Amino acid sequence: MSLALRLLEPTDAPAFHGLRLEGLLNHPDWFRATYDEEAAQSWSEVARRLREQAVFGAFVDGELCGIAGFARLTQTKNKGELWGVYVRPGARGEGLGSALVAAVIEHARDHVAQLCATVAVTNPPARRLYRKLGFEPYGLEPRGLKVGERYLDQEHLVLLLDADAGRARIDEAAWPGLGSTGALALCHDRVQVEVRRRSGKKAGR
Ligand SMILES: CC(C)(COP(=O)(O)OP(=O)(O)OC[C@H]1O[C@@H](n2cnc3c(N)ncnc32)[C@H](O)[C@@H]1OP(=O)(O)O)[C@@H](O)C(=O)NCCC(=O)NCCS
Repeated sequence: MSLALRLLEPTDAPAFHGLRLEGLLNHPDWFRATYDEEAAQSWSEVARRLREQAVFGAFVDGELCGIAGFARLTQTKNKGELWGVYVRPGARGEGLGSALVAAVIEHARDHVAQLCATVAVTNPPARRLYRKLGFEPYGLEPRGLKVGERYLDQEHLVLLLDADAGRARIDEAAWPGLGSTGALALCHDRVQVEVRRRSGKKAGR
């Protein structure tokens, strides 16, 4: 099995759009956007999004299986936002989510001083993932998201990127399953992460 992680390009629009819609359909509670809104987008709109925002993709044997995006918050100069983190169910528990979020963090370091994330309190996997990579919760927003007629409380987190402690925790945690049997290289200049995995799948949770 080969794994690779890279910044998506406009030509990745069909694969990105398919995976994004899969995530929105499977997990309407965990994303601000809705399936209907994004299903209505044309591929050229999706390609423009990939040109204007940094979206990382994780590929397993050449197939896009995970995504995570970075958006600069335009109201302020110092903040960015992590958005759209999704890993296909069959590829979870292998470290893809960690590697994708780590790639967004490394990218964000060159652009902003802090990276924000928001997660539904009913989403323990994502809450654990973000904490593991150094995000600190700073607030709980009651009814932060409305899905249909239901309200969901949202947790707000931030990662201060100028703190050295953040980088150390990310490097240590980026690919937990590899141990001594694999290698992870973070190439900060090209914003690319290459992963080769030789160990077996992590035990199920
Ligand atoms: C959250 C998500 C991206 C994790 O992807 P993944 O590839 O399984 O993540 P990893 O294998 O890198 O696991 C990273 C950490 O996430 C947490 N985690 C992942 N799956 C978990 C689970 N089922 N239960 C609890 N924690 C879990 C753990 O802290 C884990 O680290 P650990 O194995 O060292 O304990 C994936 O479950 C997903 O796509 N969920 C649906 C979409 C979503 O919730 N997106 C976030 C919106 S805010």
